[in-house]
Amino acid sequence: MLSYSLIIFCITLLINPILCYIPETRIGHNSVIIHNQLLVFGGWKMETNTSTYEMFYLDLTKPFDSKNQSWDLIREGNLPVYTYYSAAVADTLDDDIIYLIGGYRINITTNENDYSNVVYMYNYSNTKWTAPKVDNAPPRQEIMGTIDNKGIVYIFGGNNMTNFTMGRLYNDMQIFNVTTMIWSKLSIIHNLPSPSCAYTATMMTNGIIVYLGGVEVVNENYTSRLESNYLSMKTIRLFDTLKSEWSQMNVTGGDDIAPRVYHTSVLTTDGYIILFGGVGRNNTPVSTKLAILDTNKDIYEWTIPSSSDSSPHLYAHTANLYGNYMIVTFGRDTDNKDLNSQIYLFDVTHYTWVTTYTPPPIITKSSSKALAIGLGVGGGIFLVILVSIGVTFFKRHRHTPILKISGSDSII
Ligand SMILES: *[C@@H]1O[C@H](CO)[C@@H](O)[C@H](O)[C@H]1NC(C)=O
Ligand SMILES: *[C@@H]1O[C@H](CO)[C@@H](O)[C@H](O)[C@H]1NC(C)=O
Ligand SMILES: *[C@@H]1O[C@H](CO)[C@@H](O)[C@H](O)[C@H]1NC(C)=O
Ligand SMILES: *[C@@H]1O[C@H](CO)[C@@H](O)[C@H](O)[C@H]1NC(C)=O
Ligand SMILES: *[C@@H]1O[C@H](CO)[C@@H](O)[C@H](O)[C@H]1NC(C)=O
Ligand SMILES: *[C@@H]1O[C@H](CO)[C@@H](O)[C@H](O)[C@H]1NC(C)=O
Ligand SMILES: *[C@@H]1O[C@H](CO)[C@@H](O)[C@H](O)[C@H]1NC(C)=O
Ligand SMILES: *[C@@H]1O[C@H](CO)[C@@H](O)[C@H](O)[C@H]1NC(C)=O
Ligand SMILES: *[C@@H]1O[C@H](CO)[C@@H](O)[C@H](O)[C@H]1NC(C)=O
Repeated sequence: MLSYSLIIFCITLLINPILCYIPETRIGHNSVIIHNQLLVFGGWKMETNTSTYEMFYLDLTKPFDSKNQSWDLIREGNLPVYTYYSAAVADTLDDDIIYLIGGYRINITTNENDYSNVVYMYNYSNTKWTAPKVDNAPPRQEIMGTIDNKGIVYIFGGNNMTNFTMGRLYNDMQIFNVTTMIWSKLSIIHNLPSPSCAYTATMMTNGIIVYLGGVEVVNENYTSRLESNYLSMKTIRLFDTLKSEWSQMNVTGGDDIAPRVYHTSVLTTDGYIILFGGVGRNNTPVSTKLAILDTNKDIYEWTIPSSSDSSPHLYAHTANLYGNYMIVTFGRDTDNKDLNSQIYLFDVTHYTWVTTYTPPPIITKSSSKALAIGLGVGGGIFLVILVSIGVTFFKRHRHTPILKISGSDSII
């Protein structure tokens, strides 16, 4: 629900020559930070069974209140397709560029599924989306991409939906070289994880990607989330991008952290992964809403801060780290069954939820680049899109897939 104060605030803004945009609530969207802007795009408008293509942003150089923030619409920035549960990454070699990869795709004109372009590219300078020619990119959904500082995007497994009742899960590691636009599949034979989707992926400074949560299937056929195994938060999967090797780690703690999908994870500059939200088996709210994984230890260790209890029960939201804040947008609140319109702010230095955003001191374009590089060297912000991803339920309904969230009759 939008507060009257926000509406009044927006009217005030409209009197000024500033555009104030009130975005629709959504799940399964993307959010990426470039040029000190939190850009949000894509997603599923659950209430109307429709999708969305507008692109809008929050200016992170200005303070805001979590319940009274002002979004700006990027007028020319409409997505070329409807998409949700896709991956989006900010290019680490060119800070103007965002890649949008995979996900469920619907042609805006025909309203039919359309997987003709797996990769789209957004250019901040001209605010346009284009479809670069990328051969061999397989259409995958329920994926999360991460990019290293050499411009290689890693996409693990995911779902390939064959029709509205069946899909197929994969366990391959696909890489996309943004310098050459070459897409390829790594040949790995040892320690392959089971085919899975709906995980989160976090690239660390040492080149290891930490995969958390999601579901796996024993054979590749994916018909039901209920028949799939939810992955434990205790035994986690690691992929070493320098050696192209998979491994597993039994981490310390984690017994109380319910397996989940539609969650998010962000990496702090000092090596802690903040796991937040998600939804559990049978669409139940997850028991530990927020947990922190210390990756500085040889055996990673989970801790559950006391603020975990006071966290909202969100899933299919997104989370991005900027300065001292984990910024959470949209998604659905399982407590009141409402779509979330406010921004939630988690202070990652004090492990508390706060309501006021204060921008970090460095705000100009050139110095923010320096900041990002400094952080990258000092402890690792890869501008990785931290979307929540998850399993979606579909039904055929006119040419539009219908996302079913509640209820346990699970088809995909
Ligand atoms: C909302 O925030 C703006 C500044 O961004 C402020 O001027 C305005 O008074 C706030 N409105 C309310 C109701 O807090
Ligand atoms: C959206 O789909 C759900 C589930 O099939 C249905 O109950 C609901 O009526 C639909 N809403 C609209 C606006 O079509
Ligand atoms: C949508 O479908 C139309 C008609 O088939 C096609 O011309 C158009 O290129 C499609 N759009 C995209 C973004 O693929
Ligand atoms: C982005 O757009 C600018 C301005 O049009 C252009 O100079 C630049 O080459 C574009 N970048 C890419 C990677 O296409
Ligand atoms: C599934 O994979 C096949 C082969 O790669 C491809 O032709 C098809 O378009 C994919 N379907 C979807 C919906 O991803
Ligand atoms: C989906 O595909 C599977 C496997 O090809 C088939 O058995 C099933 O009947 C299909 N379902 C629909 C609704 O088309
Ligand atoms: C990506 O492309 C660049 C430019 O050709 C090349 O130097 C680099 O080795 C490639 N990386 C991978 C992992 O293929
Ligand atoms: C997966 O489903 C396909 C189509 O129904 C079937 O041919 C295949 O045997 C199944 N694979 C497994 C491992 O069950
Ligand atoms: C993790 O623990 C499980 C169950 O205790 C055990 O079977 C497995 O071998 C352990 N894996 C590693 C990598 O230590």
